Amino acid sequence: MTQSTDKVLSSDGLTFADRLTVNVTETATAAHRASVAGPVVLDLANVSVFYGSYEAVRQTTMSIARNQITAMIGPSGCGKSTILRSLNRMNDLIPGARVAGRISFHGTDIYAPEVDPIQVRRRIGMVFQKPNPFPKSIYENVAYGLKINKIKGNMDDMVEQALRGAALWDEVKDKLKMSALALSGGQQQRLCIARTIAVKPEVILMDEPCSALDPIATAKIEDLMYELAADYTIVIVTHNMQQAARVSHRTAFFSAEVDENGVRYGRLVEYDETQKIFTNPREKRTEDYITGRFG
Ligand SMILES: Nc1ncnc2c1ncn2[C@@H]1O[C@H](COP(=O)(O)OP(=O)(O)OP(=O)(O)O)[C@@H](O)[C@H]1O
Ligand SMILES: [Mg+2]
Repeated sequence: MTQSTDKVLSSDGLTFADRLTVNVTETATAAHRASVAGPVVLDLANVSVFYGSYEAVRQTTMSIARNQITAMIGPSGCGKSTILRSLNRMNDLIPGARVAGRISFHGTDIYAPEVDPIQVRRRIGMVFQKPNPFPKSIYENVAYGLKINKIKGNMDDMVEQALRGAALWDEVKDKLKMSALALSGGQQQRLCIARTIAVKPEVILMDEPCSALDPIATAKIEDLMYELAADYTIVIVTHNMQQAARVSHRTAFFSAEVDENGVRYGRLVEYDETQKIFTNPREKRTEDYITGRFG
């Protein structure tokens, strides 16, 4: 992420509310300017995800580049969360869930028998739709992951660093012992981001991280994502197409299809630079979705 990108997106003189309704094409262009083709961090090859015998998402192939924000969009039920969860083996926690195909992280198959899913989740962290802080103090929420991962160093410093990284420090530095549940929704979500980055993952997966937040809290999280992309690779699922256009470098559009047996399934229709998806998509299905003709 370059300095000039921050300028384009943050110092535009627009209010938060303006920025939420700002023209999709303009912002997509801004995001595109920031896009740098980087080394591939996560690579999906013919990935299908099953729940029992039900194949929820079929044959997904895409690469996710370092220090980019990759957005996943598409109608409800097309498998965005399913694919996202497969990227850090979160689906392992769902009985009957199974991944076919190959997902590699820096070239290593994350589903190989010798790979420890706990280590995968440490390097590929996740932030959920609903802020889910533990019913503990603000400090403990951040320190918890550091403790269970036995990360060495000065705990106070590491907690402060994570809270600063999540743009929350100034708001909570005088009340670190307060219950995290007393924070606002937007603050709780930034705390969850602090908790995630405390253990220094490389990738942050976010499943609709702003859907429970108001526009101002949403804008804060979006700004934060921009800052975080300098150090992390981010994959975000969002229902909000303007958000995808505003924050992401690349966008993957998934759709829900019905096969010849009448079974619904999700598939990746198109994946490209965000600007291309929103201004000149290759597939008619993508165009229909982004222009609101279905979904
Ligand atoms: N735990 C589960 N067990 C069985 N089926 C599931 C499970 N989770 C999701 N599915 C099914 O997989 C398909 C994809 O669901 P998923 O939650 O990934 O969609 P989504 O694109 O994230 O939708 P939304 O936008 O509503 O969050 C759906 O048909 C859903 O019913
Ligand atoms: Mg979902």
